[in-house]
Amino acid sequence: MKLAIPKERRAHERRVAASPDTVKKLISLGFDVVVEKDAGLFSSIPDSDFAAAGAKIAADAAETYADADVIFKVQRPLHAAEKDNAGGIDEMSLIKPGAILIAILSPFTDGAMVDAYAKGNITTFAMEFMPRITRAQSMDVLSSQSNLAGYTAVIDAAAEFSRAFPMMMTAAGTVAPAKVMVMGCGVAGLQAIATAKRLGAVVSATDVRAVAKEQVESLGGKFVMVESDETGETEGGYAKEMSDDYKAKQAALIAKTLAKQDIAITTALIPGRPAPVLITREMVHSMKPGSVIIDLAVESGGNCELSQAGKVVLENGVKIVGHYNVPSRTAADASALYARNLLNFITPQMDTESKSLNIDWEDEVITGTLLTHDGAIVHERLKGGK
Ligand code: NAI
Repeated sequence: MKLAIPKERRAHERRVAASPDTVKKLISLGFDVVVEKDAGLFSSIPDSDFAAAGAKIAADAAETYADADVIFKVQRPLHAAEKDNAGGIDEMSLIKPGAILIAILSPFTDGAMVDAYAKGNITTFAMEFMPRITRAQSMDVLSSQSNLAGYTAVIDAAAEFSRAFPMMMTAAGTVAPAKVMVMGCGVAGLQAIATAKRLGAVVSATDVRAVAKEQVESLGGKFVMVESDETGETEGGYAKEMSDDYKAKQAALIAKTLAKQDIAITTALIPGRPAPVLITREMVHSMKPGSVIIDLAVESGGNCELSQAGKVVLENGVKIVGHYNVPSRTAADASALYARNLLNFITPQMDTESKSLNIDWEDEVITGTLLTHDGAIVHERLKGGK
């Protein structure tokens, strides 16, 4: 059974869907692993490391995809309509009917692609749909990648900030600690709090989910939250869109708190909806010159009214940073963890005796992530809306 690891070709993507460690384990499961030349270049994995782990190195995309039974990718393949952006490679046309594709497939961003998978009889698993159950934690790409994004957000903030994070008491005087506010205390936000604390900042944080309070406080942060009877948490543990009354109260709370901060790191997301706007132009103007906002939600519309994807905007002396694909900024670690997530996903679906795939189509992990199968779109969220 051939398992292909193509080079990622989308803009701003530096990760790869396998590591030498996972290649070894995939081979021991029974796969013939083929890795495209230079696939690990930006993750500091030379072809020779993949080859030493037992992978065959393919010269180009055509050779990598040719006759592959299973394809591991980070992002969805490029298709013909995007040809001009892709150096002329139509990855979709290289995938054989009946193949299995496992990646972050962004079905709500690119619905046409989901139709194409079904028409091409490709079985697809969207890793970002992994159910948030204990058993699936080791397969959860959103968690592994958000964790690194939260760390990187703080490092990016420190790099843009013209002052120090920790308090320094020196003979020449005292440097005050930086004040950091984190908005959205999911996986990324909690890691941002932990990282900022380690750098010596004074950290406060907010969320619409009251359960976040204990987690923030256990990391040494101060939790601030709107006083309201309205709960911001769905049964699945995610945030929901709040009422207008709540939003007005939250805006007042943020306006009051933000003006005293040096750094704001925003991570607030609502699944299937645009990111909530938490920082308005007016609030940016209330911040001190030299302050920094890192908007991790920029690619979902942004938590700051002024952030722009792929840019550092300077407004009234405040830097608003909206990097694309933040996990890719720590590509080596992001790839290693992502590769592990995929390995952990495929391993229970392998029959160890026959060394072949024996997918349990009833397994919650499978039904939760399966987008297309047998020429049809099968995922509930795609059949019946979000
Ligand atoms: P996310 O990336 O969807 O959102 C980030 C954060 O923004 C969330 O904490 C959310 O409550 C917050 N937020 C949304 N709207 C907001 C607003 N208007 N103002 C302030 N904050 C707002 O969240 P993530 O990281 O995916 O975590 C979601 C939940 O899933 C959490 O409860 C987390 O603990 C849980 N989880 C469970 C896992 C498991 O059991 N396998 C794995 C990872 C996360």
